[in-house]
Amino acid sequence: MIIAIDGPAASGKGTLSKKLAAQYGLPHLDTGLLYRGVAKSVIDNGAGLQDRTAAEKAAKSLNLASFDEISLKSHQVGDAASVVSAYPEVRAALVDLQHRFAAQPKGAVIDGRDIGTVICPNAEVKIFVTASPEARAERRVLELRGRGEAPDAAKILADILARDERDRNRAASPLIQADDAHLLDTTHLSIDAAFQAAIDIVEAVR
Ligand code: C5P
Repeated sequence: MIIAIDGPAASGKGTLSKKLAAQYGLPHLDTGLLYRGVAKSVIDNGAGLQDRTAAEKAAKSLNLASFDEISLKSHQVGDAASVVSAYPEVRAALVDLQHRFAAQPKGAVIDGRDIGTVICPNAEVKIFVTASPEARAERRVLELRGRGEAPDAAKILADILARDERDRNRAASPLIQADDAHLLDTTHLSIDAAFQAAIDIVEAVR
């Protein structure tokens, strides 16, 4: 069983994906980490984010094991990831890895922006997780505080809106709800309530 989870930044899709993977005993791939790894490599190598050749090279030689997850999860790297992820050559270089992950015998939970539309269009379960920009910004602020950062709430909201704009309006694999995806709006849901709603969706199609 492939469970494809897509949605905008800080919608809760990461938490939901981890919980679903544990619930169904499936491996989980957070594809945002791939684009974050590419962005971090470009930054660490001293190239600019506008350098498409450097970004493509970083995608082709990506070794996620060489990063610690905490450094990839920073707000700055997330924003940089949304720049390099718009380059079609970067996306193309990461397709095989995602297909191989999806081809595991038991299936997988895979989360990102284009899993239900481009990477796994035949996924048995597709969930598009969303929440209002304000709710997402508030969650991101709490998450960053939990990691010892001191975020500026107004800037986080502005960054989330800018990231939404970039992810939704790019030509290559834009963030869009697949026709056959179930919409899960978590704005007013606790983590447990969102998880239960996701389980109900999985159980209905399983
Ligand atoms: O999900 P996360 O916030 O970690 O993703 C970081 C960025 O990577 C997103 O804003 C998006 O631009 C990009 N991304 C993507 N396709 C995916 C996953 C992430 O373009 N499947």
